[in-house]
Amino acid sequence: MKAYTLQPTDTAYRLSLDERPTPEPGPGQVRVRIHAVSLNYRDLIALRNKAGRKVGGRVPTSDGAGVITAVGPDVRHWNIGDRVAGCFFQTWEEGRFRLAHHKSDLGGNIDGMLAEEVLLQAGGIVRFPDHLTFEEAACLPCAAVTAWYSLVTRGKLGLGDSVLTLGTGGVSVFAIQFASALGATVIATSSSDEKLARAEALGATEMINYKTHPDWAKEVWRLTHSEGVDHVIEVGGPETLGKSLQCVSAGGQVALIGVLTGFGPPTESLFPAVARNVTINGIYVGSRADFEAMNQFLTRSKLRPVIDRVFAFDEATAAYDYLESAQHFGKVVIRVAD
Ligand SMILES: NC(=O)c1ccc[n+]([C@@H]2O[C@H](COP(=O)([O-])OP(=O)(O)OC[C@H]3O[C@@H](n4cnc5c(N)ncnc54)[C@H](OP(=O)(O)O)[C@@H]3O)[C@@H](O)[C@H]2O)c1
Repeated sequence: MKAYTLQPTDTAYRLSLDERPTPEPGPGQVRVRIHAVSLNYRDLIALRNKAGRKVGGRVPTSDGAGVITAVGPDVRHWNIGDRVAGCFFQTWEEGRFRLAHHKSDLGGNIDGMLAEEVLLQAGGIVRFPDHLTFEEAACLPCAAVTAWYSLVTRGKLGLGDSVLTLGTGGVSVFAIQFASALGATVIATSSSDEKLARAEALGATEMINYKTHPDWAKEVWRLTHSEGVDHVIEVGGPETLGKSLQCVSAGGQVALIGVLTGFGPPTESLFPAVARNVTINGIYVGSRADFEAMNQFLTRSKLRPVIDRVFAFDEATAAYDYLESAQHFGKVVIRVAD
């Protein structure tokens, strides 16, 4: 079987496609024939060595969906032929996050999904909704679970709440879809008017181009009649966090998720968080229980992930380059098998 690995270069990594023996599941494991993988910004962070993680030799990517082709000796509840997706953290099944789960992040500390066959923990997979294709299911494990965990599990999103999303990448587009379907109003931002029109079609109620409105927090304030929004899906990091805090309502919440502008300290004051009694929720994806709760919601609502483009398995490097170009709206997918 074929698998990609991250191979060190002078400054970062490159993708290498190699032949490997098909792995046999041990106790507590299943083998999954991967049909599709989706990329997340995190995969670019690893490939470009933006965070200094040591991932040499690792199979990259966290998000994939496929069919079980073998089960380990003691595995119950799973059968050959089941359609499943992997969980980002192979060991975080439910409840509170523990630091030990860091050791089980797919494509980080353990081998990920960009391979024809992978081994996963029997407790680290979910059945995905019947109405979704493998390519759609491959979009769920990181971006969708993160948006769900931020808005629903941690954010306790209520009917009529207001949500601000930043940009139109994977996490933000899922947040627009979930928030709209759950009866919240959404203010979406993007660098592109064309992408904002697509955000509106998904249910966003107000749109702000953050390139033509560099002081977008003032626009949010104006649109909310100086009340602010109840939830911010903060994927930008140091250069957007201060403005996001200027957008949040008294008693509102910020889901602190992303690092699109880097890993440094915030460039603007965090004081609005104090002055407005804001709750800042640090977010790291979510558990299998969150994934399953989200899948039930997807089944009821019949929502589908928004796929921008699908690349062939041997085009993985081009898929990463396309994600880096930030032309996409929603998710970028790699088809591994038909
Ligand atoms: N903590 C967690 O659990 C977790 C989970 C998932 C993702 N993340 C992080 O969240 C971030 C988003 O991940 P993703 O996979 O959704 O990324 P992505 O799909 O690569 O999103 C890229 C999009 O973000 C928007 N963007 C870029 N710079 C921006 C800025 N300065 N202000 C506002 N929007 C900006 C652009 O949208 P437009 O073209 O529309 O402007 C761009 O196309 C990343 O930093 C990722 O590492 C964290």
